[in-house]
Amino acid sequence: MPHPTPNPEGVRFRTNGRAVSSKMAEHESRRPKTNDLMRFSVAMPEDLLMDFDQLVARRGLAKNRSEVIRDLVREALVEERSSIPGMQVMGTLTIVYDHHSSDLNDKLHTIQHDYYDCIVSTMHVHVDVHTCLEVIVIRGETELVQTIANMILGTKGVRNGKLVLASVG
Ligand code: NI
Repeated sequence: MPHPTPNPEGVRFRTNGRAVSSKMAEHESRRPKTNDLMRFSVAMPEDLLMDFDQLVARRGLAKNRSEVIRDLVREALVEERSSIPGMQVMGTLTIVYDHHSSDLNDKLHTIQHDYYDCIVSTMHVHVDVHTCLEVIVIRGETELVQTIANMILGTKGVRNGKLVLASVG
């Protein structure tokens, strides 16, 4: 099955990416940089706080409420930044599939060759006699990374998978 080659709009995204990045950089430079810890109080329902404390406990002895809140805020910021069109992101796509499923291996291979300039690395694990797990690292603008991931996830025979984005711009 033929797959579309990297679309010409990639160039447009790249241009937008620069515009977005420089605007963000300008905004960042105006913000006073400090590592001083600021205190603020947070109100939340008791049951939510109890669930949160369990999360803090699961994250280990080295973590306390403040540190877990900082982690969550950083995660949310990374997620938000990586959804901005044109941002340079790294995506980690994990998929599980049955390698006996018709010509699935060939199809997955073809997609990765079509986008060879975005596919950084692929790790293949033979889980059992039928099942394969693949971790594909994809680099590029948000939309392109999501398009490639959706193409792979949407290939018939891919049982499940998930794309995790990290902003690198
Ligand atoms: Ni395998």
